[in-house]
This record gives sequence, C-alpha cells and structure tokens, in this order.
Amino acid sequence: MTTLLQINASINNSNGQSSQLANQFVAAFHKRHPEAKIIVRDIAADEPVPHLTAERFGAFITKPEERSDTQLAVVAYSDMLINELKQADVIVLGLPMYNFGVPSQLKAYFDHIARAGITFKYTDKGPVGQLTGKKVYVFAARGGVYAGTPMDTQTSHVRDFLRFLGMADVQFVYAEGLAISPQSKEAGLAKAAAEIERLAA
Ligand SMILES: Cc1cc2nc3c(=O)[nH]c(=O)nc-3n(C[C@H](O)[C@H](O)[C@H](O)COP(=O)(O)O)c2cc1C
Repeated sequence: MTTLLQINASINNSNGQSSQLANQFVAAFHKRHPEAKIIVRDIAADEPVPHLTAERFGAFITKPEERSDTQLAVVAYSDMLINELKQADVIVLGLPMYNFGVPSQLKAYFDHIARAGITFKYTDKGPVGQLTGKKVYVFAARGGVYAGTPMDTQTSHVRDFLRFLGMADVQFVYAEGLAISPQSKEAGLAKAAAEIERLAA
C-alpha cells in the first residue's frame, strides 16, 4: 500500500496557499490511488516544531542508555517524525516563502529529522542519506517571482537538504506573484493548478 505524507508548513494552517496547493495535489492523487494511506502533519500552525537548542541536540548525541527522561522525550519526538518519513513512499510539502527563506518551523523540522547514524551516515565517501526510494513534491507559494533566478535560494536549500537525507527525486511546483496584483495572483495559482493536474494525471 502506498503511503503519502503531506507536510504543511504555512503559518496560515489549511488557509495557506501552499497548503491549498498541496491539498489539491493530494486530492487528485487520492482519486487515482484510493487505497493510499494519507498522513497529514502540520508543522507550523497546529503542531509547531520547537527550535533546536543545545539541550535538544544534546539529547540526540547522548548514548541511549545515558539519556535522562527529558532527553528520552526529545529523542522520541524526533524518532516519531523520522518514522513517519520512513513509512512514506510519497512526500508532499506545502512550502511558503517567508522573508526569502523557509518558515522557521520547517527549518526546526529539518533540524529534528537530520540525525547522524539514523537519517544520514558518514562514510569514506562523505555523508550518505538513508531516506531513499521516495518521491517528493514541493508546492511553493510566494508573494514575488523568484523561481529560476539567483534570488531563489529557498529552492536550492530545500533540494540540497532533501538530497542530503537521500531524497533526490524532488519535483517543485511554484505559485508565484501572489502579492503583486489580483491578476498576477490569479495567473500564478492557475499555472500551479495546471501543473498539479498534469502531475496527478
Ligand atoms: C512574514 C511573511 C514574509 C514573507 N516574505 C516573502 C518573501 O520574502 N518573498 C516573497 O515572495 N513572498 C513573501 N511573503 C508572501 C508569501 O510568500 C505568500 O503570502 C505565500 O502565499 C505564503 O504561503 P502561505 O499562504 O502558504 O502561508 C511573505 C509573507 C509573510 C506573511
């Protein structure tokens, strides 16, 4: 059975444009794969991932048998996020752009799923990602227009991070120009919707 994990990273919950684009794709995917198991995780509005601190990172690198109860809880939370990813064959990420980057909660999520020895391993040939065999779709919503220009550092950050963990098959869909004018918003959303139809077909 196919498992799809939808990760929403908008501070606007399901009203976020990125969440809505992700929803559109997931609905189309579910139509084509009615047997698929769909898991939705809202990492920004419903259940914000806490920022990584020295204490939290310390829990990751403390030997399992030496962890305090607090550290065990921190590791259990990170393990839960990682296991959800491991289970998924398809990952759908709703990705808003805030201040040229990813939402800070998504960065915090990345900080909780990048675990040496678990989601990546250091080898003679450098780090090797362990979360392989997955297809990732990213639905990026932006007020301005940056895709394909040097100002779009968000795309390379997300792509590089996912590849580092072993997820190299990543498809981006952009809805851009959402804050420029009503016409540009409409055009940006229509272009993304057409792309979603094409991908889901
Ligand atoms: C705090 C904040 C910062 C933003 N920064 C940018 C930005 O740097 N570049 C941009 O193109 N749009 C920016 N926007 C516009 C958002 O990308 C746009 O509203 C998008 O729809 C956000 O995704 P969401 O609707 O899923 O939350 C910003 C919006 C907010 C609320």
